[in-house]
Amino acid sequence: CAQQFQSEKLTGKHVVITAGPTREAIDPVRYISNHSSGKMGFALAEAAVAAGAKVTLIAGPVTLTTPDRVNRVDVSSAMDMYQATHQLIAETDIFIACAAVADYRPEQIADQKLKKDPAVTEDEMIIRLIRNPDIVASVANQPNKPFVVGFAAETQDVINYAKDKLERKNLDLIIANNVADTTVGFNSDENAVTVISHEAEDAFPPMPKTLLARKLIDLISSAVDNQH
Ligand code: CTP
Ligand code: CA
Repeated sequence: CAQQFQSEKLTGKHVVITAGPTREAIDPVRYISNHSSGKMGFALAEAAVAAGAKVTLIAGPVTLTTPDRVNRVDVSSAMDMYQATHQLIAETDIFIACAAVADYRPEQIADQKLKKDPAVTEDEMIIRLIRNPDIVASVANQPNKPFVVGFAAETQDVINYAKDKLERKNLDLIIANNVADTTVGFNSDENAVTVISHEAEDAFPPMPKTLLARKLIDLISSAVDNQH
């Protein structure tokens, strides 16, 4: 039956998924981060397991329970996520970058909690930020690269920005979503996306992230098959 067929689509494949935000420490009590519930990444992990894959979920700080049979690696910063990803790269068949990675981190992390100047001689504070490595681009530019899927969260000109990221980062597929639409994405249980490959565009209407995840895993499995 169809369900049985689907459950075999990713047998023997190791799928590695990044999910959630990263946290970039300023001092022991403060950090910079992005909006991300991790729900889409966790739903993809669950759907990939259902399709027969071995799944590793590299998760930033989120408050979600780990789906059954998913191997979860918890990380905090973008640098942690980069290292966890690269430790698995040689055994990764499909890499899905769903995480909302902080693009910059404070240049220095203070050892002690930063204190306000009690004399208020200065009423502004400057934190110098430096660029984090691009995790998905680094994976896609490896010699024996896995099949690489990225996400593009945009607030305007969604499809063009996503296409640009597909090319620039050397990805196989990119999943674009419009985060200016507050009814879907981010913390919502629903999402609407457009999947863009080098050949085609597929628009998915708003639907629960769990259902969307199954459709996306199905589409990704077919794209992987067509590549070989
Ligand atoms: N990504 C990543 N490592 C980073 C930044 C982004 O792996 N340091 C991945 C995300 O997980 C996502 C894709 O790159 O799959 C696109 O992320 P996005 O923030 O939309 O793109 P950026 O390249 O960071 O560009 P910008 O934020 O300037 O739009
Ligand atoms: Ca970014």
